[in-house]
Amino acid sequence: MQHFLSTVDWTREQLDGLLRLAIDLKQDPIQERLHGKSIALMFLNPSMRTRTSFDLGMQQLGGIAIVLQPGKDAWGIEFDAGTIMEGEAEEHIAEVAGVLSRYCDLIGLRAFPKFRDWSADREDAVIRSLAKHASVPVINMETIVHPCQELALMMTLSEHLGEVSRKKFVLTWTWHPRPLNTAVANSALLIASKFGMDVTLLCPEEAYRLDPQFESAAQGFADQTGGSYTLTHDIEQAYTGADVVYAKSWGALPYYGRPEEEWELRKNYRHFIVDEEKMAMTHNGLFSHCLPLRRNVKATDGVMDANYCVALDEAENRLHVQKAVMLNLLGL
Ligand code: CP
Repeated sequence: MQHFLSTVDWTREQLDGLLRLAIDLKQDPIQERLHGKSIALMFLNPSMRTRTSFDLGMQQLGGIAIVLQPGKDAWGIEFDAGTIMEGEAEEHIAEVAGVLSRYCDLIGLRAFPKFRDWSADREDAVIRSLAKHASVPVINMETIVHPCQELALMMTLSEHLGEVSRKKFVLTWTWHPRPLNTAVANSALLIASKFGMDVTLLCPEEAYRLDPQFESAAQGFADQTGGSYTLTHDIEQAYTGADVVYAKSWGALPYYGRPEEEWELRKNYRHFIVDEEKMAMTHNGLFSHCLPLRRNVKATDGVMDANYCVALDEAENRLHVQKAVMLNLLGL
C-alpha cells in the first residue's frame, strides 16, 4: 500500500502520471469514479484551501469527505509511542488510525511542526505514526513538507512554461513578522529540482538555510536531471534572469523555538519583500505563492495583481492534483 507523505517517495514517472491525470480531471471535473468512497480529513491546524479543495474534490468524484479537528470537534490525539497518557489527549493515534481505517478509504492529515525542537520535528513523526497504524492510504496535507502544494505548483508552471527543465526557479525567503513553517519552502526545492529546473535558493543569511535533508535532496535531483542548485544571499543575483519567483517566509532553524531571539535577525530583512522592481530583473518571470499571503508584507499589491502572478492558478490546481492523488492511491 502506497501513501502520499512526501514526493521523495515517488518517482518522477509516478509524479508525471499524477499530473497527467490532474490535467484530464481539470477538463472533466465532475465524475463518479469515487462513488461510495470516503476520506477522513484531520486538521490539527487551520486551513482554507486544503480543506475546501479536498472536500469539494471528493464530492466532485462522487465520494464523501469528513472533516475532523482533533482537540476541537474530535478528541485530542497522542502520537508518541509508549506515553503514559496523563495529558490533554484522550486517545492514541493507534486507535484513531485503526477506527478511521475501518470507516474510510483514505485519511488526510495536516500536522504542523510543534516549533519547539527541530531535531524532533524534522523526523515528521506525527504523520509517519498515522501511516504506521493506518490500513488505508494516508495523504499529507502539510507537515514539514506539503506534497499536494508541490504538485499544484508543478502543474501551474507546466501550464505557463511548457517544459520546465533548465528554467530558472528562484525560491525567495520573504519578510513576515513571525517565523513560519518551512514546509512549502522544503517542498518547492524538492519538486523544482526533481523536474530538472535550475533552482536558486535566496535567503538573507546562513541562518535561513533550509534543513540539509532538503538542500541535499535538491542537489541530488539536480545532479540526476541535469538541472542545478545554487544558494545565494544576493537579491540581484537571484532575480536576474529568473523564469519563476516563488516566495515563502520561514523561521531560521538555528533559532527554532526561540522567536524573540530570531526577531533580532528577522527585523533586518523587510526588504526581502517581492516588489515590482525586483520582478523587473527577471526574464519576464512568473510569480507565485502557496497562499495565504499578507499583501504588502510578503509581496506588494502590484505583484499580486500583475498578469505574471499565477498564485490563483496554483490554488485552483490544488483541487485537480488532489483528485488525481485520491484516484491513484485507490487504484481507480
Ligand atoms: N496553501 C495552503 O495549504 O492553504 P491552506 O493553509 O489555506 O490550506
